Amino acid sequence: MSISNYLYGRMEKGLQKIISNGKDTEGNVGSPIKKDESANLTFAVWGDPQVSFISPLRSARVYRAVNDLKNADSLDALVLCGDITEYGTECEYRFVKRLLDELGEGVGRIFAVTGNHDVRLRNYKKQVKRFQNFISSLEKGDTDFGDSYYYTRDVNGYRFIMMGTDRSTFEAAYISDKQLERLKKDILSAPDEKPVFVFNHQALKHTNGLPKTFLGKGKWRGSVGRESDKLKSVLSVRKNVFYITGHLHYCTSEYTYEDCGNFKALSVPTVGVINHGEFKTMTQGYVISVYGDKTVMRSRVFGEGKYAPESVPNSYIEVAL
Ligand SMILES: [Fe+2]
Repeated sequence: MSISNYLYGRMEKGLQKIISNGKDTEGNVGSPIKKDESANLTFAVWGDPQVSFISPLRSARVYRAVNDLKNADSLDALVLCGDITEYGTECEYRFVKRLLDELGEGVGRIFAVTGNHDVRLRNYKKQVKRFQNFISSLEKGDTDFGDSYYYTRDVNGYRFIMMGTDRSTFEAAYISDKQLERLKKDILSAPDEKPVFVFNHQALKHTNGLPKTFLGKGKWRGSVGRESDKLKSVLSVRKNVFYITGHLHYCTSEYTYEDCGNFKALSVPTVGVINHGEFKTMTQGYVISVYGDKTVMRSRVFGEGKYAPESVPNSYIEVAL
């Protein structure tokens, strides 16, 4: 048996053990997500599943979160905001596929960007291929990529732009001028002045509570890195751009949402790992609904099948368009 198959088998056994104990996998004790039919688009965003052969608990949290979406009125999409896996290994991606393929009709399409954990240990081209193979292997995944991590799709007439590092970096990202130009072009050519959703793993410098929300270490740490200012000016080229990120493992809080003028920055908590901050509940993410005149973002504890309490800052965010 290959090491990859052996580790995959261990991951399955670890998850089954937790399921059979009846712990951490029940979920759905609250109310399933009800889609507002007057919304033009409704999708879920998860940060950092970070599924790994070193932690069956992470698999169990994603399993619970998947159960919540299975019970939902079918959402238009699920977006994973990077750090899909801990080490970017083939068996970890295969296990994420095993979890996400349980979604059934729960979501229409799945999109994903890479995180530093996905890319850091391997040759760039090899890992790009592995990541693309992962996405196109998903029942609700996508195909037809170029030779990089970034790609753009339209969902219900709204533009979704996936970003990704152009080098194998360890913690920040490297965003090439080529990618920035493409980003600008795709933002400016988005349909009918509608909001545009840009997904990347890392937030910009000095936004969403950085550096405090990355435990206060270093001036740039936790952010996208050197290209942060350039990226900021590209995100500002048009109104109603939503820049949605993960990476910080920080709970829904006063830092989660920041109005940066033309663009709005949403930092999504982790669905698979422990969140820092006050509202530590596991399996957090967001459900986003887009209407003709507003975008509504609600923090959800997917593993418990309920929205975050109103008392939590930024549990409900409404942005007029
Ligand atoms: Fe990360």
